[in-house]
Amino acid sequence: MRVRNFCAGPAAIPETVLEEVKSELLDWGDSGMSIMEMSHRSSIFNEVAMTAKKDFIDLMSIPDDYDVLFLQGGATQQFSMIPMNFSSKNESADYLLSGTWSKLAISEGLKFSNINVVASSEDGNFTSAPEIESWNLDSKAKYFHYAPNETIQGVAIHNPPKIDSPIIADMSSVILSEPIDVSKFSLIYAGAQKNIGPAGLTMVVIHKEMFEQENSDNSNFFKYSKHSESNSMLNTPPTFAWYLAGKVFKWLKKEGGLEAMRKKNYLKAETLYSYIDNSSFFSNPVKIDNRSIMNVPFVLEDKDLDSVFLQQAEERGLMNLKGHRSLGGMRASIYNAMPIEGVHDLIDFMKEFETKNG
Ligand SMILES: Cc1ncc(COP(=O)(O)O)c(C=O)c1O
Repeated sequence: MRVRNFCAGPAAIPETVLEEVKSELLDWGDSGMSIMEMSHRSSIFNEVAMTAKKDFIDLMSIPDDYDVLFLQGGATQQFSMIPMNFSSKNESADYLLSGTWSKLAISEGLKFSNINVVASSEDGNFTSAPEIESWNLDSKAKYFHYAPNETIQGVAIHNPPKIDSPIIADMSSVILSEPIDVSKFSLIYAGAQKNIGPAGLTMVVIHKEMFEQENSDNSNFFKYSKHSESNSMLNTPPTFAWYLAGKVFKWLKKEGGLEAMRKKNYLKAETLYSYIDNSSFFSNPVKIDNRSIMNVPFVLEDKDLDSVFLQQAEERGLMNLKGHRSLGGMRASIYNAMPIEGVHDLIDFMKEFETKNG
């Protein structure tokens, strides 16, 4: 039996995609072997890989002066590689501090660069993102880095800021959830294991101008230009994850693309927040304008009931609702693959739990 999986990542994958993968796992396209067993240099894999890339470009309407890379190393490698390439100890980069992931990006950034934290919401336990009017931007900053969706706190900045420095965004938990204007960004990165597919793949969308800004001392593996020149095959790419991501892109196209996803995702999020806000038993601490449409943290009035809540939820097939270990409470991650019915099932359970224990 398939459960409702609210995991923040690795997260749910559309069931139809998994069925398709299952049907071709042993024999891909009459090749007599699994896609996992094929050379990444083979014409068959190349076709799969380039179709996935094209579908991703179509879905996100990525302009021609950008390249899309399919890399390993996760978002963590990205927020380490970015300062290594685009700044130095003699220069400075701007970072917004709005949650755990932007904080980690800052600590890695400090190893390679001076960092100007333009604003922080840490004092308020990251229950909001700092207002743009309060940002102390440096006109000489090499770039501006932020996380539009902080997965742990469920805090989002819904529109890209209008600033002069090149904008770099960690979109790990929000990529493909709604249309975005890629031209506003110089670099977007995202681990695949939330809204795309299996862990092991990291998407990078990079403006080609950024290749000229790279630190030439880095080894080739840590240069975006080298990955771009080799079409993301500088070394062996995560072939299975790339193939599966391609299937998710096809699924997204069939579902109506990112505008259709936006409608579905806002409906799911609004339905869940509205129930939480109208209950005196559950609450969400995040400022309304900064609420994430992908990760919905909530707490029970009585913390002692947390473990009972989680256990009974699991008995109903509502899995992985435990909040991040640093925050406690609950968190429902409702990425693209979670249908509205999953949100209804969760709310039905929450209502019953409230009636019994409230
Ligand atoms: C916003 C954000 N950034 C970075 C990461 C780290 O990703 P990875 O484990 O792929 O390095 C995560 C993972 O949960 C995340 O949610």
